[in-house]
Amino acid sequence: MGIVLGLDVGTSGTKAIAMDASGKLLASALVTYPLHSPKPNWAEQDPGDWEQAAYSALAELATKINISDVKGLGLTGQMHGSVFLDADNKVLRPAILWCDQRTAAQCDAINSQVGEQKLLELVSNPALTGFTAPKILWLRDNEPAVYERVKKVLLPKDYIRFCLTGEYATDVADASGTLLFDVNNRTWSKELLSLLKIDADWMPPSYEGTEVTGKLSAAAAQKTGLPEGLPVVAGGGDCAAGGVGCGVVRPGVVSASLGTSGVVFAFSEDVHTDPEGRVHTFCHAVPGKWHTMGVVLSAGGALQWYRDALCAEERAVAAQTGRDPYEYITAAAAQAPLGAEGLLFLPYLTGERTPHKDPFAKAAWVGLSLRHKKPHMARAVLEGVAYAMRDSLDIIRGMGIPADEVRASGGGARSPFWRQILADSGHVPMVTINVDEGPAYGAAILASVAAGLHDSVEGACDAIIHETDRLQPIPEHEKAYDGWFAEYQALYTALAPAYRRIAEKIE
Ligand code: XUL
Repeated sequence: MGIVLGLDVGTSGTKAIAMDASGKLLASALVTYPLHSPKPNWAEQDPGDWEQAAYSALAELATKINISDVKGLGLTGQMHGSVFLDADNKVLRPAILWCDQRTAAQCDAINSQVGEQKLLELVSNPALTGFTAPKILWLRDNEPAVYERVKKVLLPKDYIRFCLTGEYATDVADASGTLLFDVNNRTWSKELLSLLKIDADWMPPSYEGTEVTGKLSAAAAQKTGLPEGLPVVAGGGDCAAGGVGCGVVRPGVVSASLGTSGVVFAFSEDVHTDPEGRVHTFCHAVPGKWHTMGVVLSAGGALQWYRDALCAEERAVAAQTGRDPYEYITAAAAQAPLGAEGLLFLPYLTGERTPHKDPFAKAAWVGLSLRHKKPHMARAVLEGVAYAMRDSLDIIRGMGIPADEVRASGGGARSPFWRQILADSGHVPMVTINVDEGPAYGAAILASVAAGLHDSVEGACDAIIHETDRLQPIPEHEKAYDGWFAEYQALYTALAPAYRRIAEKIE
């Protein structure tokens, strides 16, 4: 029997899974770690935490499977983070993460130095605070002594790849999110690297998602209990690997993942670039294909914030009954009518990427009155996140990319109530599938192709993934949501100047 493994270096933890060629999940392990925010708008993690978590998760997995059947390990992880290494491969400072918003000045500098149009031509994407290139320039501007010692810049999962194999390597999907990658030609942009004076040698060689990038070293084999020489496969950034894990490998199939961030992810045969750069255009982990995606920075994260900040009672009851607090929160939300009687929620807790590209945006309930109670507030959060996801979907559809069905994944997608809101407000059927193991599962699928268990990523997905549920949009809800969505969109426009002024006051 052939077994393949997937390892996801996520933001809240590292997850390892094992599956067989039929896609059956054999075992999984999760090890969590903290996220540090030493200053407002900063988000950092210790790559050493990821390393220990990867060893522990893989070691736990190794005890649950027959390791002599393991044929490959695919890697995935949070995108855009920067791990700076010195000449001795020592980590120079904590990694700066995808949700960190410190680099607004560096994004402005890239735009004025390179030009927004030229940037889209070179790397198919605009300068966004979460991307890697502005982080490198932030280091140059703010920690020059550290910057002087940099010899390599690795993405989170690629640092783990280095720990496991001793090889510097990345995959084309994750590399796309650095803002230094020529997405069109699937290679590093020498021109942009040189314009920004970033040493091209700092970036690792890039591979397609199903290529083998190295073998498990003896030291890593000892730490994990996995066989030395195990092929380690390129994999993909978590969005692309998550797309593979949902079977988004053909035109018309789109996924919506509701994790901390919300990602609307669409497959494409060719490169499609939004002239305004509101959605990202990245290489897919499917060799020779691309994808377009919108990223909502706080999706499940907004509901998590609501749970933690305002739902002590629901949490206490859930602890007593052994149920999930979200069940109580969504059940309460369902008591409020569609539109929450005029209460709207903007989910911009950590700024917003799609469509606003605004690190200063903030969350808000607008329209509160004496009539409103907690069910309204909860429903407004669910609806606000759905509107944010629709913003991305509308841009993708407007670019001529088909969206015949949306496959829901991630913790938030477990609620049928929230899925129906997404279907109704997004005018699209919401589909659930037989697996929801997230990016780690996609990384294992990529490893299964590298190991020869399947001929292609598309073939693997056809064999493994099938639909289990489909919610059609309800026509009268669609109409009502259109009205509220227009108000939601107008609110950001009205509040944007205030967000900027408020940010200046608290910085
Ligand atoms: C994608 C992005 C996030 C992280 C989360 O562009 O920033 O989805 O990859 O892990």
